[in-house]
Amino acid sequence: MKRWLVLVFLLVTTATAQINSKFTNPNNCKGCHEEEVKDWDSTWHSKSHKEKNPLYKAVLAYVQKITHQTDADVAVGCAKCHNPRLGIKQVDPSYMYAKAFGLESDTTRKVESELNAEHIQNGISCYVCHNIDKIHPRNSLKDAGFDIISWTKGDLIVGPYPPNNRTGYHTSDERDFFKEKNTLCLTCHEGSGNLHDVPGYETGTELLLSGQEMRCVECHMSSIKKSVIAPHIVRKGETPIVRDLRSHLFAGARNSDTLESTLSVYAHHTPNNVEIGVQNLTPHRVPTGFSGRSIVMEVRFFDGNGKLIGQPNYTNFRSVYRDSRGNEALSYVATKLEKDSRLKPLETRLINIERPLNSQKMEINITYYLLSPQLQQIIPIEDEIFTKPYHVHSTVVQF
Ligand code: HEC
Ligand code: HEC
Ligand code: HEC
Ligand code: HEC
Ligand code: HEC
Repeated sequence: MKRWLVLVFLLVTTATAQINSKFTNPNNCKGCHEEEVKDWDSTWHSKSHKEKNPLYKAVLAYVQKITHQTDADVAVGCAKCHNPRLGIKQVDPSYMYAKAFGLESDTTRKVESELNAEHIQNGISCYVCHNIDKIHPRNSLKDAGFDIISWTKGDLIVGPYPPNNRTGYHTSDERDFFKEKNTLCLTCHEGSGNLHDVPGYETGTELLLSGQEMRCVECHMSSIKKSVIAPHIVRKGETPIVRDLRSHLFAGARNSDTLESTLSVYAHHTPNNVEIGVQNLTPHRVPTGFSGRSIVMEVRFFDGNGKLIGQPNYTNFRSVYRDSRGNEALSYVATKLEKDSRLKPLETRLINIERPLNSQKMEINITYYLLSPQLQQIIPIEDEIFTKPYHVHSTVVQF
């Protein structure tokens, strides 16, 4: 009995021993890096756990239902990118048997405590990016997140600057992936969790196809600001170094005005026709990433009295995946990608619309959905953060 207890203790400690407890809580960084912590807190990297993100929770349940896996098998597979510091990388088969019979065992308790550990609920926090020692090349798109990461040991924090002894709280070193290319971001923003080799997250491939050499951080963190890191902890006699910094915004539709700079729209008209050009200003698809996103363009025509006289069908920019039963699906469980009308990187899409007789005015209204109205029918979610339309663009054209 005693030996068994020791074994359980060892298992639990080895799983978490690699992580320095000074780094598990972002509040420990606040005293010296207040701005980074405040910015990060406003981002969806900080909510990448089912207890913080209702859409993630709903999609985990949806994937479990369709694949008949256990909740833990699904959660661990997704955690490679969503919670890469999880203490377990696969679920012991005895978990499934215990669950099938409604039993609690050491395995179920351990799996559940790992998945719900307090630091894991912080999602993609400082100790993810700044504890990455190496990012390994991948063999296939299934390799992503924790599959291709080795972590730093001890109290080493990595970033864009050469090592120095000014930090006090941690040692530091530089890694190239903070300074060049997009390898860091694409560890998770490129990959597929799909069993049938259907594509999933492809933001990196999209950027490559665009031929642009831009870095994600230029648009999603901020432009470079000259400033001093942790100015108030500089020791007497030392001159603080002015560094090139960026904000930790990881800007998306919910925490920034990034949608405003996504598209450029024009309209040319003849007496019978309107040509609308919708240009994607980003070097990746729009929408990109999670397969549930969609953009909807609505056009309305009015007569001289302001009466609505025509409303053509909406134009959808989105991907349509199907599962094995032919139902619309998310990429994770899909057997095929049936249609992809998302805007390609930097593409200008031309849309021709017949102009109703006597039309004097046209309104174009473009909105963005985190979960498309079509998928809202399949994946129940109430929180309006995920269901409401976000404004992208509107124009009024007088003929
Ligand atoms: C998703 C990855 C990621 C996460 C999570 C992250 N960082 Fe960073 N951090 C970066 C990148 C990339 C840079 C380099 C930015 C640049 O190009 O200058 C950076 C730079 C920094 C720097 C150097 C100064 C600066 O602001 O540019 C500090 C300090 C820092 N991060 C602290 C933190 C803290 C504290 C947290 C947690 C609240 C955190 N980071 C979370 C990616 C991340
Ligand atoms: C006691 C203050 C203090 C605390 C607490 C602290 N840091 Fe730092 N950190 C510093 C100082 C000082 C620097 C170096 C400033 C310089 O060289 O310009 C630094 C540098 C960094 C860098 C840049 C490293 C490089 O070489 O590029 C990162 C990233 C970073 N810290 C992340 C963190 C994270 C994450 C935490 C919390 C787990 C944290 N720090 C906690 C003081 C602190
Ligand atoms: C460890 C994996 C990982 C890394 C590394 C990573 N991300 Fe993310 N990122 C995610 C996940 C997972 C989400 C979704 C979180 C959620 O909504 O619950 C996300 C969300 C985002 C979003 C927000 C999308 C939205 O809907 O608001 C942006 C923008 C983003 N990441 C940019 C970046 C950039 C830029 C980098 C590189 C500096 C980066 N990420 C590095 C995994 C990662
Ligand atoms: C030229 C600026 C630019 C660059 C470079 C760029 N993006 Fe974006 N990105 C945007 C804009 C604008 C949006 C908003 C449109 C949208 O949500 O589809 C966006 C949206 C996103 C989203 C969806 C956010 C959400 O709200 O759902 C993710 C994820 C993302 N980008 C990741 C990346 C990654 C990863 C890279 C690097 C490989 C990158 N981006 C490079 C401009 C850029
Ligand atoms: C290859 C890494 C990777 C894997 C594996 C992965 N994700 Fe993601 N996930 C991401 C990234 C990166 C984003 C952010 C992209 C965006 O915002 O468009 C994201 C976004 C999401 C979102 C949108 C969250 C929001 O706040 O809007 C949901 C939901 C989601 N993932 C669910 C899952 C589920 C469920 C699984 C497992 C079946 C999974 N993901 C597997 C990387 C991954």
